[in-house]
Amino acid sequence: MSNTKIHKNYKVLAIDTSCDETSVAVTVDDKIFSNVISSQVDLHRKWGGVVPTIAKRAHKENIDQAISEAIKRAQMKLENIDAIGVTCGPGLAMALEIGLDKAKELAQKYKKPLIAINHMEGHLLSPLLKNSKGKGNEIQKNTFPALGLLVSGGHTELILIKKIGNYQKIGQTVDDAAGEAFDKFANMLDLGYPGGEIVEEFAKKGDKNKYILPRPMEKSRDLNYSFSGLKTAALYLIRDLKKKTHKDFLNKEIVYDLCASFQKAVVDSLVIKLQKAIVETKPNSVFCGGGVTSNLTLRKNIRKIAKSYNLPVYFPYLQKLNTDNAAMIGIASYYKAKRDEFWKNELKELERNPGLSFKII
Ligand code: KG4
Ligand code: ZN
Repeated sequence: MSNTKIHKNYKVLAIDTSCDETSVAVTVDDKIFSNVISSQVDLHRKWGGVVPTIAKRAHKENIDQAISEAIKRAQMKLENIDAIGVTCGPGLAMALEIGLDKAKELAQKYKKPLIAINHMEGHLLSPLLKNSKGKGNEIQKNTFPALGLLVSGGHTELILIKKIGNYQKIGQTVDDAAGEAFDKFANMLDLGYPGGEIVEEFAKKGDKNKYILPRPMEKSRDLNYSFSGLKTAALYLIRDLKKKTHKDFLNKEIVYDLCASFQKAVVDSLVIKLQKAIVETKPNSVFCGGGVTSNLTLRKNIRKIAKSYNLPVYFPYLQKLNTDNAAMIGIASYYKAKRDEFWKNELKELERNPGLSFKII
């Protein structure tokens, strides 16, 4: 892998359409100049989850507008961009292809190099993003190897970052992702979609020790997660509570306690394996990314564990950078450009890769 010297102030137009946000950003080196996020949450809400055909149509409708807005906010012109970065996976096939086709079209029209990005590398490097004035996390020389905890709606993974560009997946969920578990749990209680944020809000008013829920795979020797058993346990608990009260809905206090107990079970599960991974891999720091890591109870518990091993923890400097956004694709593109990892084949050969994953050891 050669290390091309890309010039300073390297400008990337980044596109992410992996799921239900049409996002376009302009980054300059590691700095965010614009980060447009056009959310489709309102369109998917009534279905209780993301509907691929609806997502595809909305991406198609929104993408041109999101690109012009990102360019305008960054006060740039497409002609002056150095490269185009785009998510090629993982994600919904139908959604990914809209961003990918647009990126190819622009790369051809403006004769710009294209950089294909793994969406999860974007989440992983999101703590390195800075604002346009260069403010953000100050990463030290001895930051790596770092241990990455990625927790989103589709993924729950532990990644060893030996250095930027060298990643090994050392653990992952064997069934549902943690965010998915939050969403399904919220759905069981008719709390709305997406569920994570709502459960966190309700949990604040509840007693986390009220109901006993399992921490699946707590004792397993590997670094994997499982959330489907927890989901089923919650389903039975809710059913029993409804039976007991002879109602088909639960009163507010019970819902608050359920949310607090469920959140505690998810957070404990995440942190137990994080701690095990710290012991096994002895990293110099911890990186966190993905929508669920905006959960304050989770953050507090991650910080506590990391502190007990004297490790700094890096979250994205802004909360909205935890969830899907294109700025994180911009920073992943910047580091890939530095490594000369441009797409070098014919553009038409670059295909969406819904199941794209880090290497497993
Ligand atoms: O990273 P993300 O925006 O999209 C994916 O790539 O999946 O993560 C979305 C997930 C959803 O499942 C959502 O319920 C969850 O993150 N989430 C949260 C919180 N905010 C978002 N889960 C728990 N607590 C939160 N505050
Ligand atoms: Zn994501």
